[in-house]
Amino acid sequence: MKDIYILAIESSCDETSASIIKNGCIEIATVVLSQMDIHRTYGGVVPEIASRNHIENITMVIEDTLKQSQLTMDDITAIAVTYGPGLIGSLLIGVTAAKTLAYFYDKPLIPVHHTAGHIYANNLVKPLEFPLIALVISGGHTDLIYMKEDYSFERIGRTLDDAVGESYDKVARVIGLEYPGGPKIDRLSEIGKNLYNLPLPLNDDSYNLSFSGLKSAVINLVHKEKQKGNSIVQEDMAASFQSRVVEILTKKTMRAVKEYHVKNLILAGGVSASKAIRNEFERLCSKDHVNLTIPQMKYCTDNAAMIGAAGYYAYKLGRRADLDLNAKATDELK
Ligand code: KG4
Ligand code: ZN
Repeated sequence: MKDIYILAIESSCDETSASIIKNGCIEIATVVLSQMDIHRTYGGVVPEIASRNHIENITMVIEDTLKQSQLTMDDITAIAVTYGPGLIGSLLIGVTAAKTLAYFYDKPLIPVHHTAGHIYANNLVKPLEFPLIALVISGGHTDLIYMKEDYSFERIGRTLDDAVGESYDKVARVIGLEYPGGPKIDRLSEIGKNLYNLPLPLNDDSYNLSFSGLKSAVINLVHKEKQKGNSIVQEDMAASFQSRVVEILTKKTMRAVKEYHVKNLILAGGVSASKAIRNEFERLCSKDHVNLTIPQMKYCTDNAAMIGAAGYYAYKLGRRADLDLNAKATDELK
């Protein structure tokens, strides 16, 4: 069978990235240019600044990826691109670059949903085995998804308010940590103790999740302590917050694994870089004999390698976009 090389582009938020993936699972070359240092000054991603930076960098990132791969455009089978969801101005840069390449080099154009990308980051570790449950935890999404085969996404639960990564970042800001707060909360929790009494959010029989109440509980506690002239012990608050997140995520996910009778669980999205979350899922899955896959650390957060992996399966299924492909800020995973 002829090898399939996907040139993938991702620019949905503040990472400009390109990658070449062979047959959906072999990474040939990837470049990820993060704008984190630029946005840190503002305490979060500024959309207008993000899209301007994508414009400045996208050509160089694609050229670097091709150079590293030692391939030429003749070797590339198709171009895959994240068309959504994400920041519209950021998405447009990747989509325009992909359309230009597809037109100029006469290659098929494959539209990839950003969440499908996060899920297929696991295919770079080992081929997905079905049926499976995917827990997608990122800055924009928190979903529990049942997959019976490739590209079949049945959402069985979701956050009713904030995405989990969003709540990490907000809690971090409230306790005085820089953006992005997720990794800092995770690191601090290692030395902190679970001493603050926080609620276990949406502890019900559904597979839905909720994080705004937990976030508000942290904010209220910080204010109360301030009024009393006390300050929060950052590492203890980080540990208390994260332990509640870990508890509710593992509780609902492991229940879904049991109730859907699946043996395979995958984690996906930036928050799956959390050591506390990885460790607890590893412990529970080994106890319950569930096959757990978590992307490599560098492919938990946004990157084009995952888009190349997802793009390969989309390509095999005949999914194609025309040159009128447009970026979408929101879109259902299907
Ligand atoms: O998937 P991602 O890179 O972007 C979106 O698609 O949203 O996820 C970014 C989110 C941010 O909220 C960030 O704080 C969080 O992932 N994150 C982490 C860790 N690394 C990144 N959260 C907890 N622990 C980490 N180590
Ligand atoms: Zn993402």
